[in-house]
Amino acid sequence: MAGLMTLSRYNLQRKREYEGATGDFTLLISHLALACKVVSREVARAGLLDVLGHTGTSNVQGEQVTKLDVLSNELLIEVLNDLPMVAAVASEEDEQIRLTRAGRLNGRYLVCFDPLDGSSNIDVNVTIGTIFSIRKRDTVGREATAEDFLKAGSEQIAAGYCIYGSSTIFVYSTGDGVDGFTLDPNVGEFVLSHPDMRIPDPAVCWSANVGNARNWSAGTHAFMARLTSGEGRYKKCSLRYVGTLVADVHRNLLQGGVFFYPGDQKSPKGKLRVLYEAHPLAYLVEQAGGKASDGVRRILDIVPDGLHMRTPLIIGSGAEVDLYGELAGAT
Ligand code: AHG
Ligand code: MN
Ligand code: MN
Repeated sequence: MAGLMTLSRYNLQRKREYEGATGDFTLLISHLALACKVVSREVARAGLLDVLGHTGTSNVQGEQVTKLDVLSNELLIEVLNDLPMVAAVASEEDEQIRLTRAGRLNGRYLVCFDPLDGSSNIDVNVTIGTIFSIRKRDTVGREATAEDFLKAGSEQIAAGYCIYGSSTIFVYSTGDGVDGFTLDPNVGEFVLSHPDMRIPDPAVCWSANVGNARNWSAGTHAFMARLTSGEGRYKKCSLRYVGTLVADVHRNLLQGGVFFYPGDQKSPKGKLRVLYEAHPLAYLVEQAGGKASDGVRRILDIVPDGLHMRTPLIIGSGAEVDLYGELAGAT
């Protein structure tokens, strides 16, 4: 058992480090991990159950909702509903925030999540993920409101994701480094497999939906031209694009690389959402030594004006995020 550093043991060890820690946060993380284990199981057998395909409805984003979107959303909410320390959740799949049963008045924590990221990849068996962000609120004693969520990303106290790929890996940070835990399906536990993740400096790959290039600004084109120039740092810089934000960011976090989903003529604010995609992933990537911007501002400085506000996102190895700012930031 000595070598088996599970997520639960790791959290208990960390709790001991924080004097006065109540264990609330440890309980919250372990419940998020539980929900991700169940989502992982449902994702793995989606083809066997009637959970592939679309529900025939669309969400607040106007996007088609898949059955696994709904299933994972309801799962996460159900798991958090009975935690007295959680006051409310904000989900990609729900227009408004949802107050929890147990913590709506006195819960200190707010949780934002994208229950299933990369939905378009579900039916074709390509890696998908779950993204979460944890904040504290200063309105304990009354019911939380949407305004309690609309704060800068730097106010997050933790963030993470779970990636459902060839293995299921739970990656999170509480502000002093990033650690990854791989699910051992035989034990049913997340085991520490990627301690203190640090993003490598040379960007060995870049990720973007080049299918949108006709709408990109001249600056974004100049950025892509530099990445594909084959010169200097970019002698070997391959294009890798999964179409699941979690998968592209996870790979770039491990190998070094930059992901960009810029604003363009068609969608000036880009596609990705601040509260439950850009903020949490920016928090993690910065904790791992990388950067994240909207081309002009640091993502963590953005204060969203709505639960589903979108932002352009350039995230990964710091030098490339800076280069985008130089070449395309003002545009
Ligand atoms: P979601 O499935 O939660 O709506 O997120 C999908 C996002 C993100 O995962 C990915 O990076 C991006 O959509 C891909 O967009 P395109 O298909 O336009 O490239
Ligand atoms: Mn998403
Ligand atoms: Mn989603």
